[in-house]
Amino acid sequence: MATELLSLHDVHAHYGSSHVLHGVSFSLKQGQLLALLGRNGAGKTTTMLTLSGLLTASSGEILLRGKRTDNLSPENIARQGIRLVPQGRRVFANLSVQENLDVAAQRRDTPAPWNLVRVYEMFPQLKSRATQRAGTLSGGEQQMLVIGRALMGNPDVLLLDEPSEGLAPLIVHEVTESIRKLKQEGLSIILVEQNFGVAQELADELVVLNIGQVAFSGSAEQVCAAPELATRHLGIF
Ligand SMILES: Nc1ncnc2c1ncn2[C@@H]1O[C@H](COP(=O)(O)OP(=O)(O)O)[C@@H](O)[C@H]1O
Ligand SMILES: [Mg+2]
Repeated sequence: MATELLSLHDVHAHYGSSHVLHGVSFSLKQGQLLALLGRNGAGKTTTMLTLSGLLTASSGEILLRGKRTDNLSPENIARQGIRLVPQGRRVFANLSVQENLDVAAQRRDTPAPWNLVRVYEMFPQLKSRATQRAGTLSGGEQQMLVIGRALMGNPDVLLLDEPSEGLAPLIVHEVTESIRKLKQEGLSIILVEQNFGVAQELADELVVLNIGQVAFSGSAEQVCAAPELATRHLGIF
């Protein structure tokens, strides 16, 4: 039985006076992939920002290996092993691919499996473009670069916010395969995904948000075994 790695308990979040997350609770198990689904504006990105400390939860708790992180700075949360790949894949356009990766390297207190060599093994396309300006990469390559940058921080938990958004189907397939490999490497992942097929293919657990609340959560098997459950809850987006 996989152990619980990261969990949210009744998390609320606001942008100023706008109340966006209304008591979100779910948990990610060690080595698993949790897909976070929901229509536009449901609160997926807000959940990811709150997990990474870029937005402070107004109440509730976030626990990493049983220790609270919701009161820590984003830098500290990253050092504890949670890394966000934000929506919109922004690279440093004027830096080379290699420079983008080098500036993201970060020491961890625990043994660090990821370095430039391993990131290039994971994404050979990036190696062949090491000296190229990142701004000139294709959308798919830029996505690989931002994931590579997160890996240079040696995360235990990778938060991927819509990595396949706006990419051509063939490239979506490549990105999906990369995520599958990262899971095989032992990373625990929360993946925000609009494409239900992709989510179902990769995920151990699915969580559907609707207007800042969890509308459904269950295992991929549960969703497969009870498609009416899926259409009822997932039909909301
Ligand atoms: N910076 C912001 N300030 C105010 N409201 C925001 C901000 N970002 C997002 N929101 C609102 O919060 C809600 C959830 O947004 P978001 O988490 O980005 O949704 P999703 O990622 O699921 O599409 C939406 O109603 C959105 O308009
Ligand atoms: Mg979003």
